[in-house]
Amino acid sequence: MTDLVWPVFVIEGEGQTEAVASMPGVTRLSIDLLVEAVGEASALGVKAVALFPKVDPSLKTPEGREAANPDSLMCRAIRALKAAHPEVGLFCDVALDPYNSDGHDGIVRDGVILNDETIEVLVRQSLVQAAAGADVIAPSDMMDGRIGTIRDALDQAGFAHVQIMSYAAKYASAFYGPFRDAVGSGGALKGDKQTYQMNPANTDEALREVAMDLDEGADSVMVKPGLPYLDIVQRVRETFAVPTLVYQVSGEYAMMKAAAANGWLDNDKAVLESLLAFKRAGANGIFTYAAVEAARLLKSC
Ligand code: PBG
Repeated sequence: MTDLVWPVFVIEGEGQTEAVASMPGVTRLSIDLLVEAVGEASALGVKAVALFPKVDPSLKTPEGREAANPDSLMCRAIRALKAAHPEVGLFCDVALDPYNSDGHDGIVRDGVILNDETIEVLVRQSLVQAAAGADVIAPSDMMDGRIGTIRDALDQAGFAHVQIMSYAAKYASAFYGPFRDAVGSGGALKGDKQTYQMNPANTDEALREVAMDLDEGADSVMVKPGLPYLDIVQRVRETFAVPTLVYQVSGEYAMMKAAAANGWLDNDKAVLESLLAFKRAGANGIFTYAAVEAARLLKSC
């Protein structure tokens, strides 16, 4: 249970909920309701959440400026959650896609991702999130060299205690579709992310990416997506023996829920079996939208 990390989506307002149509059971919540929901999750034993904001389209710019705003929805949510539930670890995503009018994780000019300009914004995004109370900074953007630069900036600003979990082995996957609906980046996305996310056919590159990010100071690494990439989880864990996390992504979750809704799968058994498979592959932590339901199921086992 303590291995589960619950990804949550936050929206503006008070008393607001929005169901995510492509992810049955997942609801975007305004900060007040998110604080309540995380309290319930914590009581069930889920002691970590990963926060993702759905940013108002009027705040999106080509440089993703809102990402570095200390009073952004994301930073206000971090402060509220830390104040109410200090025992719950906060993984805070670092990437520009929720803030970028092009829907990409980095700044795009003339169709090309600008690696170094993007890193400057990612550093500022990391610093405002650390100042707001993030426990773990989680760069999911896949720009080259960002881990070392973010680590140095955090250390210099007095945030040596803030950890970095790198999305080191992140594939350009078809399984992210429902997430892009959830944060509202899918409609905006121009083109695809194949220049910075990895080719699903490639294994060794994942190990090189992990090695680089560890060398630059990552405390833990993420493999993403999950079930289709268990071989990568196992190789990373066996090669590096570092905390290795895995993300059961939105499309994997949607597949399970759609099949269960049709009576084609036993939901509870499928949820628990998929989580067991991650443990079998050696994962130390599991990001899953089913974290709270899994905690309930595990309690009643
Ligand atoms: C990108 C990001 C993605 C997810 C989380 N952060 C993928 C993407 O849009 O490339 C996907 C998570 C999921 O599908 O559940 N910053």
